[in-house]
Amino acid sequence: MKDANTVLASAAPVMPVAQFESLDHAKACAELFAEAGVPAIEVTLRHPDAWQMVAVFRDAMPEALVGVGTVLNRPQMLRAVDEADFVISPGFSPELSAIARKTLTTYIPGVATATELMAAMADDHRVLKFFPASAIGGVPLLKALAAPFADVRFCPTGGIKQSNYRDFLALECVSCVGGSWLVPSMQALRDDRSGCLSMLTELYKK
Ligand code: 3PG
Repeated sequence: MKDANTVLASAAPVMPVAQFESLDHAKACAELFAEAGVPAIEVTLRHPDAWQMVAVFRDAMPEALVGVGTVLNRPQMLRAVDEADFVISPGFSPELSAIARKTLTTYIPGVATATELMAAMADDHRVLKFFPASAIGGVPLLKALAAPFADVRFCPTGGIKQSNYRDFLALECVSCVGGSWLVPSMQALRDDRSGCLSMLTELYKK
């Protein structure tokens, strides 16, 4: 298991947060991402076939880190421990954190306030998702939180887009951002797959 700092550093600059329309859509995106060299992805548990989608990405992108996101409860966590390179939650849960610690799983919980940050830090988390980033205050809030919590690193997600992701990345406390805007719809793939591919290739070129 890689540590959470390494996961975010590998994912930079943007970790696709993936919600798919169908298993076919997931397969089409997995092929696209593999071709583009996407280094890490968060596959969210927001579809009845989500676990199959995780397996699709593991097969299609053996070099990449495949994380499971929107992990909300114990059964999901126990399965994610076996199937993911890392696990992400939108909020902080001491119960899920304890499972991660016991199983040596790389776990990145989410926070939105100073109180949640203190709770996560009390459980030794220094690498956190900042969610929902834009709705709760965006760059100004993150900047304000970074002052008292100087050793914490964040992956802001939620409402981040092509137009503003660089503003988040410019903050020292931000290791990478997450976003669903990098995941083309089935229609976008049909209309302009090569455009989608060049956008991704450009983003991740070394
Ligand atoms: C998440 O789970 O991180 C967010 O739902 C992603 O937010 P976005 O769709 O606004 O990028």
